[in-house]
Amino acid sequence: MAQPYSARSRAIEPFHVMALLARANELQAAGHDVIHLEIGEPDFTTAAPIVAAGQAALADGHTRYTAARGLPALREAIAGFYGQRYGLSIDPERILITPGGSGALLLASSLLVDPGKHWLLADPGYPCNRHFLRLVEGAAQLVPVGPEVNYQLTADLVERHWDQDSVGALVASPANPTGTVLDREALASLSQAVHARHGHLVVDEIYHGLTYGMDAPSVLEVDDEAFVLNSFSKYFGMTGWRLGWLVAPPNAVADLEKLAQNLYISAPSMAQHAALACFQPETLAILEERRAEFARRRDYLLPALRELGFGIAVEPQGAFYLYADISAFGGDAFAFCRHFLETEHVAFTPGLDFGRHQAGHHVRFAYTQSLPRLEQAVQRIARGLKIWQG
Ligand SMILES: Cc1ncc(COP(=O)(O)O)c(C=O)c1O
Repeated sequence: MAQPYSARSRAIEPFHVMALLARANELQAAGHDVIHLEIGEPDFTTAAPIVAAGQAALADGHTRYTAARGLPALREAIAGFYGQRYGLSIDPERILITPGGSGALLLASSLLVDPGKHWLLADPGYPCNRHFLRLVEGAAQLVPVGPEVNYQLTADLVERHWDQDSVGALVASPANPTGTVLDREALASLSQAVHARHGHLVVDEIYHGLTYGMDAPSVLEVDDEAFVLNSFSKYFGMTGWRLGWLVAPPNAVADLEKLAQNLYISAPSMAQHAALACFQPETLAILEERRAEFARRRDYLLPALRELGFGIAVEPQGAFYLYADISAFGGDAFAFCRHFLETEHVAFTPGLDFGRHQAGHHVRFAYTQSLPRLEQAVQRIARGLKIWQG
């Protein structure tokens, strides 16, 4: 018999929602109209000026590797964006262009985590984080969080959970699946707590730009030593182009560059050229319209779900998710999701995909569908609840 596949690959869980997605696709193939609220990507296609820049890049033959750190012009454009959006002066030398925010996470975990070492992560949280840590033979130390702490790590939680193997903390603002945002004070106190323990603070700012009624502060406003993960996927609407970036302290850049050279050589060249169009006023105007559309959707779906009895204790200020407690209806979240898919053809994600803490009675809705579709979904959910509660 051949050798088994690696323990690390066996330890990494699939997305549980994929089983539901496969069933949703089957139902759709059989002619049913499925409303997809399980998908974590904008429903809009990439904005026209970015697509045009990508097409021009291909026509101009930009089909080869770039420098491992990415195109200098794109790194400068991103630095300029930090100036414009946050009033920050970031040296482009500190910016590495990566294949998605996922590539930035791969670099950061490879650089900062030795075997057996931990990062503190909020539970619920984005599931891939703990899997990246497992991949580098480290581990996630999951800290249960609820509405009382805005579903985020706090300085106090860092103090209570830090142990001799902890080397850092990773937080996301806005967070997936809860959409909560860390304000400047919360970021500063987290930064203090982590640095006081000689740890690294890594902040996932991938949903920046997608906040409603407020702007999320960057950790770089209060902490120059933090590692920041960001992406062109969400606000910039480029999920399939696979492009993100990492902002690192100056002394980490050479090591990160070496890792990038070895792990993926460079981020996609044509995507980098396309992304140069992201920062033009014409593109930003389109992206801001889309942000306003997401805000309208949240403002519709949040009260509509609450009215039906879903528990959403904290108003999410960003991303495009609502994380809801279904205790009022009884039963297990996975069975609940399956019920709505089978009877009402509405797909959403069980809590199990985001951790262990109270996962059995939480679900995530992504408002990555138009308002009329969301209205239809709410009608169907109302009907399906009557059947569920018998
Ligand atoms: C919190 C969070 N971080 C990182 C990612 C990775 O996204 P990408 O690799 O497309 O930038 C996602 C994607 O859903 C996410 O939700």
